[in-house]
Amino acid sequence: MKIGAFDSGIGGFSVLQPLLREIPDLSIVYVADTAHVPYSGKTPEELQILIRKILRFFLDSKVEAVIFACNTSSALVLPQILPYSFVPFFGVIEPGIQMALTITKGKGIGIAANEVTAKSGTFKKMIHEKNPTIPVFEQSCPELVSLVEKGETSSPKASSIVKKYMEPLQGKIDTLILGCTHFPFLRKQFEESLPDCAVIDPAYPLAQHFMKYFNDHQGDLNSKESPKKHDLFTTAQSPHVEEWAKKVLGWDLTAKLLDLTRINPWVPEEVSSYEITS
Ligand code: DGL
Repeated sequence: MKIGAFDSGIGGFSVLQPLLREIPDLSIVYVADTAHVPYSGKTPEELQILIRKILRFFLDSKVEAVIFACNTSSALVLPQILPYSFVPFFGVIEPGIQMALTITKGKGIGIAANEVTAKSGTFKKMIHEKNPTIPVFEQSCPELVSLVEKGETSSPKASSIVKKYMEPLQGKIDTLILGCTHFPFLRKQFEESLPDCAVIDPAYPLAQHFMKYFNDHQGDLNSKESPKKHDLFTTAQSPHVEEWAKKVLGWDLTAKLLDLTRINPWVPEEVSSYEITS
């Protein structure tokens, strides 16, 4: 099966890693929207346009599913367009929440996210729809995305910044959701900052959810392309993306440039049904 996945940068590789471990036969078309990283500074309207352009590209690439490998777009864009999905769309927020609710002992759930996701209140709202009594703390961690994009995942600076952001959550929670797909690359630092907490990377429950969905719907998860191939796109010249694709996913690929200025945004009403071909 060929699927599309995107993020503002390399964050989505943390989502693909467990997915490809579970389903090695998937072919991925990955878009790193490096011309617009970080997504945190964008308004919901700007994000809608950018992501609908990426979705137009996926539609034209004939992908059979799309993974929003990004919490910001899963929070601010996916809910409005989900009813119009042209293939199954998967966000990263719901699977992490489900897992957190099964793990927490009820003390509290923390969310580490970028500013715009944290401020949107999406995690709190979705958790309280399922369990209105659990305390939820959405912690904005503004500096971390650019740190990860620069490859600074094991510097003393990274440890001290994560520690600073996690301080307000100390003693208040027993479970932390990594609510930004760049943050699993700093998982060790989060675990060290909150040693008594379960730290959840939503990519793992997402991979399970993805497999279950296609098994339940008799979808064919095997790649129809032989040999199976992946495609890597960036929206601005960003050599570090290739480096990280190799480091995280073992991909030895040259990234192609995708010029979003030449793509018209997909209009949700345009194609509103999908078929899973087997
Ligand atoms: N990695 C994305 C997320 O999960 C976007 C981070 C950003 O560009 O601010 O939210």
